[in-house]
Amino acid sequence: MRIARLAGPTDFEGWRKTARALRLAGVTPGEVVWAAGGEGELFADGDPAPAADAPAFTAPRAFVDLAQEVICHRDPERFNLLYRLLWRLQDQPALIQDITDPDVARAREMAKPVARASHKMKAFVRFRLLPGVEPETYAAWFEPMHHVVEKTAPFFVRRFAGMRFSILTPEACAHWDGDTLRFTPGVSRDAAPADDLLEDFWRTYYASIFNPARLKVKAMQAEMPKKYWRNLPEARLIPDLIASAAGRTAAMVAQAPTEPSRHAAKATKPVRDVVLEGTPPSLEALVAGVDGCRRCPLWKDATQGVPGEGSATARLMFVGEQPGDQEDLAGRPFVGPAGQVFDKALAEAGVPREQTYVTNAVKHFKHELRGKKRLHKTPVQSEISACRWWVDHERRLIRPRVIVALGATAALSVFGKATPIAANRGRAIQLPDQAQGVVTYHPSFLLRVPDAEAKEQGFKALVEDLALAWKLAA
Ligand code: URA
Repeated sequence: MRIARLAGPTDFEGWRKTARALRLAGVTPGEVVWAAGGEGELFADGDPAPAADAPAFTAPRAFVDLAQEVICHRDPERFNLLYRLLWRLQDQPALIQDITDPDVARAREMAKPVARASHKMKAFVRFRLLPGVEPETYAAWFEPMHHVVEKTAPFFVRRFAGMRFSILTPEACAHWDGDTLRFTPGVSRDAAPADDLLEDFWRTYYASIFNPARLKVKAMQAEMPKKYWRNLPEARLIPDLIASAAGRTAAMVAQAPTEPSRHAAKATKPVRDVVLEGTPPSLEALVAGVDGCRRCPLWKDATQGVPGEGSATARLMFVGEQPGDQEDLAGRPFVGPAGQVFDKALAEAGVPREQTYVTNAVKHFKHELRGKKRLHKTPVQSEISACRWWVDHERRLIRPRVIVALGATAALSVFGKATPIAANRGRAIQLPDQAQGVVTYHPSFLLRVPDAEAKEQGFKALVEDLALAWKLAA
């Protein structure tokens, strides 16, 4: 029996090096015990010598991607599971595509909660100002469900590049000084700061975005599980907000229809002096530049430009048509009624939205006023062409393996020519930039189909196409 020691619970490079040496030495999975975080030599009993007939081998990219997620899971069995998969891949190179294989299925099952834990960390870390510390520094306490601190910290660096901060957790801490990201061992809760002014800010912000008419307590608790509440300043508002939701909704219904005051929207709209002209050097720069876009006149009547969002390394990218009323107000794609259909279809197809990138062919909301209502208007060719500059740069920076065009406008943007949906859906279409394309129905189209049976058929087709795209992207 060999003991293989790793530097820490997420030491992927250590695992990779060790697994390679073990595989070359012909050491079977049953002969290795993996230990994370141990001191001393990598191999407690000496480096394994490569066997004379050691096979040359490489691991497929899909395995490496999956392994990087799985290694962040808490299950101590993960190292051995990965080694077993690596071992078996040499004889079965397509093994990783076989989702019915118990090892592959287990690894995929482990990757999901890791992605969820990382998503929760992005959503629920709340920084607090450290009193009396110069230069100004923020700290946050967080208890992740899996070992996701190293994996998720770069997100905060991108988001808060100019802010010095520490994210403290029981197992690992991340520190950003504006220049270097460092990791240190975990600390106890007492090391984290308590209340400060930012908490009031969060509470005011949360109360202002809480919409009583859209309250779904179960969905809310699933998205924001109670275990995170004690570290969220806004959480103490939740019971009252829930209790008053029904009354507030009744009052809202009784009121005249509201349309965001165009004057107020314009007044709060940030003035952009800088319009992004050159090639965006990064996805962050691109996202930050969308609101300043003046490539066509649509910006004039929109509240803001709505950039894409999601994983910067997504293998799967979705392109919708344009932001709707709610997306225009929220500044995020697919959060309104079409977004709900989209989320439902993603869930049925088994596609984790946070591992994908979701954007639109046109970044500003095109609409006309009918009374107080803002009614969606389909963008015309010149607007789609003008906005294609953004979509092309998103494609260049993210380099997804698969791009799904949701509806005809997106298809025109992605394929550069009219691509009828019914005739082209359900298959991969090669794109010039190495990616594969898939076209499918737009979720809003399904909302408008009057016939219940046709609606159900359309939804089924959408789910099938999303599942196909996810499989192609694996
Ligand atoms: N429809 C779209 O095409 N995109 C959105 O973001 C919302 C609705």
